[in-house]
Amino acid sequence: MAATRIEVAASAGAYPVIVGAGVLDTLPQLLDDEHLGAHCIIISSPLVWELHGRRLARILKGQARQPILVPDGERSKTLQTVGRIYEALIKVGADRSAVIVALGGGVIGDMVGFAAATYLRGVRLVQVPTTVMAQVDSAIGGKVGVNHPLGKNLIGAFHPPKLVVADPLLLATLPRREFRAGLYEVIKYGVIAAPSLLERIHSRRAALFNHDEEELEPIIAESCRIKAAVVSRDELESGLRRTLNFGHTVGHALEASTDYRRFRHGEAVAYGMMAAAALGNRRGVTPPATVAAINHVVAELGPLPPVSDLHASDVLAATKRDKKVVSGTLHFVAAAELGLTTELTDVSDKDVKHALKAIGIRK
Ligand SMILES: NC(=O)c1ccc[n+]([C@@H]2O[C@H](COP(=O)([O-])OP(=O)(O)OC[C@H]3O[C@@H](n4cnc5c(N)ncnc54)[C@H](O)[C@@H]3O)[C@@H](O)[C@H]2O)c1
Ligand SMILES: [Zn+2]
Repeated sequence: MAATRIEVAASAGAYPVIVGAGVLDTLPQLLDDEHLGAHCIIISSPLVWELHGRRLARILKGQARQPILVPDGERSKTLQTVGRIYEALIKVGADRSAVIVALGGGVIGDMVGFAAATYLRGVRLVQVPTTVMAQVDSAIGGKVGVNHPLGKNLIGAFHPPKLVVADPLLLATLPRREFRAGLYEVIKYGVIAAPSLLERIHSRRAALFNHDEEELEPIIAESCRIKAAVVSRDELESGLRRTLNFGHTVGHALEASTDYRRFRHGEAVAYGMMAAAALGNRRGVTPPATVAAINHVVAELGPLPPVSDLHASDVLAATKRDKKVVSGTLHFVAAAELGLTTELTDVSDKDVKHALKAIGIRK
């Protein structure tokens, strides 16, 4: 299969997303094509480096220094870990000509991206995402950042990469739960922009879970295309980009109210999408067929962590701390027909509580 090249427009300069099984092998050429020079500093996590570092080191031959390894996982996505990255960069003498390669999942990508955005007021960044979540979503669009004890992703910047290399072969080592968590984000793209993706996930489920690259590569490429198109038109999230938040208001609230311990991000978004469907239906914008389609494809992927012990008032309070609150009112992305969204700007507590009840939060 030939690699897919998708251009993303950004005020700091357009950049390509290259998607394809085996494209990582061409990294030196890709770096060269983008004038990123021969030497880069790889930042990854011990686990990802253990699994894929040797391959990357072989591909880059002598062109990379020793990697900088920092812990990943949501609870490590902190300013403290970014501090460790700064220290390592200073120690290896990285200057403004440095090119930093983030090799890992969304946590590494966001955290390393934030370090790249701020180190010496900004150095060049290359994203090599290694989870489904990171390949279809977080590596594209330039949002980088870390969590604060009071909320997720509250500290951050826009720092678009110079190049994104998404190689589905890297996903072969992903635990099933992580793999599935990323697929919920693909479902999100299906709901907001491409119903055919939902059909694909439904009909090719077994092959996808077997990491069949012939099935995996097209859904990753299609997801990247959708994300790239949206962020190209609305880099700083003044409008259109908010559609990507479908399922994320309640999703983020679930993550926050369980202290980031219970859900994988995608799992929380899966609940969030079902809640958004129920809320949209109550408000008369989401047709019953769209609600049914969302619930069905989510249920089909497998079990989600429980929510029945959570208190609706806690989750509701957490939605209000989310960044989607603009001057005090909650902006809520709702689905219309499959492939279309609309924004509700006057969502009441009652609406949210009804939606939480629909996903099983009854306390
Ligand atoms: N910047 C954005 O626009 C954006 C968009 C969506 C999500 N995000 C962020 O992304 C994060 C979630 O990313 P994630 O789901 O990739 O989580 P993650 O980075 O925590 O990775 C999940 C786990 O998988 C492991 N892993 C990574 N690659 C692997 C591989 N190839 N094989 C085996 N194990 C591997 C990691 O070590 C980690 O334990 C969240 O913090 C979320 O806020 C950011
Ligand atoms: Zn997400």
